[in-house]
Amino acid sequence: MAVDNLNKSTGSDFLSRLRNYLAHHLRKGRRDTEKNRLISFSQVNEALTQGWKDSTMSYRQREIVDCQLRKMYSGDVMNSFKVAAEAVASCGFLDGLLVEIGCASGYYCEVLPYLLRKKINYIGLDYSLSMVELAGKIYNQASFIVGDANVLPFADKSIDILLSGNVLVHARDYETVISESARVSKGAVIFHLTPVMKMAKTAYLTMYAYGVKVVRLSFNQDEFLCLLDKYGLLVENIIELEPYSIKGIEDAIIPKTFVCRVKG
Ligand SMILES: C[S@@+](CC[C@H](N)C(=O)[O-])C[C@H]1O[C@@H](n2cnc3c(N)ncnc32)[C@H](O)[C@@H]1O
Repeated sequence: MAVDNLNKSTGSDFLSRLRNYLAHHLRKGRRDTEKNRLISFSQVNEALTQGWKDSTMSYRQREIVDCQLRKMYSGDVMNSFKVAAEAVASCGFLDGLLVEIGCASGYYCEVLPYLLRKKINYIGLDYSLSMVELAGKIYNQASFIVGDANVLPFADKSIDILLSGNVLVHARDYETVISESARVSKGAVIFHLTPVMKMAKTAYLTMYAYGVKVVRLSFNQDEFLCLLDKYGLLVENIIELEPYSIKGIEDAIIPKTFVCRVKG
């Protein structure tokens, strides 16, 4: 954001933009030198797991999402939106309840009905109060809850489609998140954009998300599939995106969206 633009803003909007502007520029140096650094499990501290709660992130992310939504309406739909819609469509249960875990500012409650040409009964959950408040302001027709993917505030088998919205990748205790996702769904669980590797062991890294340092993981695929099986999830469909590499990891990382049926 140029300083000129800051001058055009007023009141609390001005303060919020100024805070974001400063946060972004003060953190930029650190972000550039410390991108995707491999760490050990014991180095994954509270600050890294709770980083997404930083109140500057919601507005920064939303600026980017607004661009992506404008592109979608002009016919240029980004792959992650297309894949999420394809995964949800493949589940069936489209008239049931869909809950997105890690919903951020709630844009999938706009993207999914648009791409599927169907009204979706949607609830979004995120552990960031700031994300949930922003989602509630933008989408007053949907419901949003503050909650943690590690202890979901839903009864057993109370959801038709649980969309784990690119959140497992930031979950230090990913086995707990998988088991909670399986517990609350009676139909399907989608682990959207899960980065997996064929050979390398599950790895913990740091990354900067909208200027804030958080933990991110890359999973050993066999270990991940074993966990799905352990918690009664049968993989029915896998949608792959382009592989990428990260310095220090000797294996291709493939983002995959796993569509699972809840057994029994
Ligand atoms: C990468 S963003 C994904 C946003 C959106 N679902 C998407 O796919 O584009 C991850 C989101 O998960 C949230 N998140 C991270 N850890 C969480 C946790 N333990 N419980 C709930 N939400 C969490 C973050 O606040 C953030 O909004």
